[in-house]
Amino acid sequence: MNIFKDYYNNKVKLSFEDHPFTSQPKHVWVICKYKDQWLLTKHKERGLEFPGGKVEIGETAEQAAKREVMEETGGIIAEMDYIGQYFVSGRRENVIKNVYFAVIDELFPQPTYFETEGPVLLDSLPNDVKHNRLYSFIMKDDVLVHCLKIIKNRL
Ligand code: GTP
Repeated sequence: MNIFKDYYNNKVKLSFEDHPFTSQPKHVWVICKYKDQWLLTKHKERGLEFPGGKVEIGETAEQAAKREVMEETGGIIAEMDYIGQYFVSGRRENVIKNVYFAVIDELFPQPTYFETEGPVLLDSLPNDVKHNRLYSFIMKDDVLVHCLKIIKNRL
């Protein structure tokens, strides 16, 4: 279990066990690769981030992950793996999020990208993500750092 503080100083617990906090998380986050690039989205308020969001009623977390990637980037997932789960102790509420790694094989331009401005492809993630104002707060804690290490070892 990895324990650290997030950008807003909330406590985060991150684990790579099989669904350690809940079997039915209400949030998902998908670290996406498209060919040799990272596929992110540009959230209109938060900035650059990997796609994700809330699991809707009647949906599984995996279905939500696929839907969010399509809605926010137009990406079709070829393969997706569960990476881990994290628990954020927020001021008002707690959030439990599943993290996935997805390989995208096609990008279809969408009429709308909902709360985002659509896909952003990057050759690499900058070293200063934590201090870079272009990036969303959800990219600024050790969830990203730890998950990228796991993904790198699996590639
Ligand atoms: P909407 O209902 O979509 O407007 O969202 P919200 O702003 O109420 O946020 P949400 O329910 O997604 O999350 C509530 C709070 O949990 C946020 O304000 C954050 O403090 C925290 N949170 C959500 N997702 C993450 C995340 O991926 N990482 C971290 N560190 N905190 C998160």
